[in-house]
Amino acid sequence: MPADGDLGEASAVLRTGGLVAFPTETVYGLGANALDARAAARIFEAKQRPSFDPLITHLADAADLEPLVGPVSPAVAALAARFWPGPLTLIVDRPAEIPPIVTSGLDSMAVRVPDHEHARRLIAAAGVPVAAPSANRFGQLSPTRAEHVVRGLGAAVDMVLDGGPTRCGIESTIVDARGDHPVVLRLGALPVEELEKVTGPVTVRPGSSGQPVAPGTLAAHYAPRTPLRLVSGAGPVGAGRGYLAFRDRPAGDWAAVEVLSASGDLTEAAARLFDALHRLDAARVTEIVAEPVPDTGVGRAVNDRLRRAAATWDPAAHEQQV
Ligand code: TXA
Ligand code: MG
Repeated sequence: MPADGDLGEASAVLRTGGLVAFPTETVYGLGANALDARAAARIFEAKQRPSFDPLITHLADAADLEPLVGPVSPAVAALAARFWPGPLTLIVDRPAEIPPIVTSGLDSMAVRVPDHEHARRLIAAAGVPVAAPSANRFGQLSPTRAEHVVRGLGAAVDMVLDGGPTRCGIESTIVDARGDHPVVLRLGALPVEELEKVTGPVTVRPGSSGQPVAPGTLAAHYAPRTPLRLVSGAGPVGAGRGYLAFRDRPAGDWAAVEVLSASGDLTEAAARLFDALHRLDAARVTEIVAEPVPDTGVGRAVNDRLRRAAATWDPAAHEQQV
């Protein structure tokens, strides 16, 4: 727990238009006052994020939702009641107080209550909703430790609150439950199976990438600097390459190996995914060979991240990090 002084200072930074990186249960967020268009603009600059990619607004408590956005649909209310605080982002109508830059001009807004003491105390102390994308440069690996934020964003952030490694390790699940039939816009830390216990069957639409769908669903995203190849069964072996395994160490002579969960636990695998990719990147291997995990529960979100990391590798998008 950061000292109260740190939280007090961080909340003052937010209130005066600054950027604070803070831990959540999913990944570290890069926060700004969501009521302040200039502060939100600084997020886009710091991340080098295209202005068409809307931000998620974070609240300290589920009870803060309707005072901000007005009445929500029964499905949104039921999901918020069941899963907040937690790794679920809901789509609601954007209220007039939230400047359009936060939602990239959309009439809708993504909102969640993170399940992390630092995050909730920070937002409550700031006394404003906090817009926060993942605290990484656009398209790159998400940060699950404070040092990932410092390495990736450095001086672009006014303050980083260190809460140690994040518990879930991948981003929240994004659901649009405004209409009759809920649609998952991004697979994430809350498994689809859990959602369906509340809503009944949902449609998963992670592949669509046009507006206003989540750009976390763009084909190439969550990418390490090193080219990543997703294999099933036999793949390239050896010299200079790194291997990302689910539970069993691979045979052969690899320059670096990361095992996501020796006991085969998908929750542990998700929690370790980005940290393992950060380490393989740092090991300066020529290529990362990754195997998919079982495609069930949170494993679906892990495979989604791996497919996007493998989708393309654009040196131009990565050169400032090399
Ligand atoms: O776990 C998380 O969600 C983390 C932590 C910090 O809360 N945040 C996060 O933010 O992953 P970001 O910006 O990396 O991804 C947010 C995604 C983007 O792909 C964005 O397009 C989508 O949410 N999004 C935001 N507003 C939306 C809207 N109105 N409709 C559809 N998608 C939206
Ligand atoms: Mg992100």
